Amino acid sequence: MNGRAVTLLGSAALVVAMSMVVATAPVTAATPSTATEGQSADHGQMTFNNHCRTCHSIKKGDNRQGPSLFGVFGAKAGSSPGYPYSAALAGSGITWDEKTLDEFIANPDSVVTNNKMKPYTGLTDPAVRKEILAFLKSNGAE
Ligand code: HEC
Repeated sequence: MNGRAVTLLGSAALVVAMSMVVATAPVTAATPSTATEGQSADHGQMTFNNHCRTCHSIKKGDNRQGPSLFGVFGAKAGSSPGYPYSAALAGSGITWDEKTLDEFIANPDSVVTNNKMKPYTGLTDPAVRKEILAFLKSNGAE
C-alpha cells in the first residue's frame, strides 16, 4: 500500500517535470539566431534576390526553375542532385570558379551554347556580378 503511494507520487512528479520541459521548450526555440548576419552579406543577398532569386534558391537541394546554387563555387556544372539540366550544361565539363561564373552570368550563351537559363539575358555591370559572386562564394563556405 505504502509502496504504491510512493510510486504514484513518483510518477506525478515525473508528469510535472515533463510538462515543465514542454512549457519551456517554445521559449528556447523562439530565440532568434540572426545576430551573426553581417551588413555586406545582406547587400550581396539583396543583389542576388533582385537578379537571380526568381529562379534560384541558395538552400541546399532546393531546386526551383533553376538548380539550387548552394555551394556552386568549385562545383562541377550540372551537379545539383535531382535537377533536370539541359544536355548542354550537364555535358559542358565546366567547373564553376570566379572566371567561369562571371562569364556565365554576364552572358550564359557565350559559355554554354543551348543552355536553358531563360529568359535570363545576362548582367552587363561587372560590379553587380562581383557582388553576386561574393554572395554565392560565402554561401558555399558553410
Ligand atoms: C529565368 C530564370 C533564371 C534566372 C533569372 C537566373 N537563372 Fe541561373 N539557371 C536557370 C536555369 C533554368 C538553369 C539551368 C540551365 C541549364 O540546365 O541549361 C540555371 C543554371 C545556372 C547555373 C549553373 C548551375 C549548375 O549547377 O551548374 C548557375 C551558376 C546560375 N544559373 C547562376 C545564376 C545567377 C548567379 C543568376 C542571377 C545573376 C541566375 N542564375 C539567374 C534559370 C535562371
